[in-house]
Amino acid sequence: MRKRINIAIDGPAAAGKSTVAKMIAKRLSYIYIDTGAMYRALTYRALQQGISLDDEQALISLLKDTYIELRPSHEGQLVLVNGEDVTNVIRSKEVTNAVSLVAKHPLVREEMVARQRALAKNGGVVMDGRDIGTHVLPNAEVKVFLKASVEERARRRHKENIARGFPSDLETLKKEIARRDQLDSEREVAPLKKAEDAIEIDTTSLSIEEVVERIMEIVNERIE
Ligand code: CDP
Ligand code: CDP
Repeated sequence: MRKRINIAIDGPAAAGKSTVAKMIAKRLSYIYIDTGAMYRALTYRALQQGISLDDEQALISLLKDTYIELRPSHEGQLVLVNGEDVTNVIRSKEVTNAVSLVAKHPLVREEMVARQRALAKNGGVVMDGRDIGTHVLPNAEVKVFLKASVEERARRRHKENIARGFPSDLETLKKEIARRDQLDSEREVAPLKKAEDAIEIDTTSLSIEEVVERIMEIVNERIE
């Protein structure tokens, strides 16, 4: 039987992590874990309850009371919070622009990382995020760091917004993405950073299929 490894995919917003991670998980019949969705789910609840995003203790209490379930579905993955389907609402502009402020708190990260490690303990996982290769799964057999220019990433999100019928402005998106990149890269605990042993792929001018093929070549070397 082929070995069931763990695959870590990190990178900044809209580099293509979740699209590619889902496709790889499908090909290998692995579980896909979107760690960004976990931070988004907590942010959604905090905003809903009017909790100050600076109040780490209140956030951690809320998290202890928040059961986050990532359930595979035809469209990729459903995100449930205490049984409520929040798959779409956690992608809202309000949540997107607040999530880095929640994710910077060390105690919040500690609890999230414990949950993420528990999900990966038996292998057979493709996990995407910001600190998977550096911190959550430092022993992952395959580590990939995806990047792309901020212009291209903003264009990708713009296209998605238009397709969903959301209002969207390319220049605003570019600024919002750059701000989130900066917050994620400069925070003190487990910042967005390429792991030393990660393979870096610049996806700016690559198709989704090309990125998947490159990663699958590396994966196949490790599982044979
Ligand atoms: O989809 P997108 O790349 O825009 O974001 P995401 O992966 O859903 O992550 C949302 C936010 O959660 C990031 O901007 C980070 O602030 C935080 N995050 C994190 O701190 N650590 C992770 N492992 C994953 C996400
Ligand atoms: O998860 P992350 O925020 O890194 O990005 P994503 O949500 O997977 O990808 C953002 C958008 O870029 C999606 O609509 C993808 O279809 C698109 N994409 C692309 O056009 N070319 C790639 N090489 C990768 C993703």
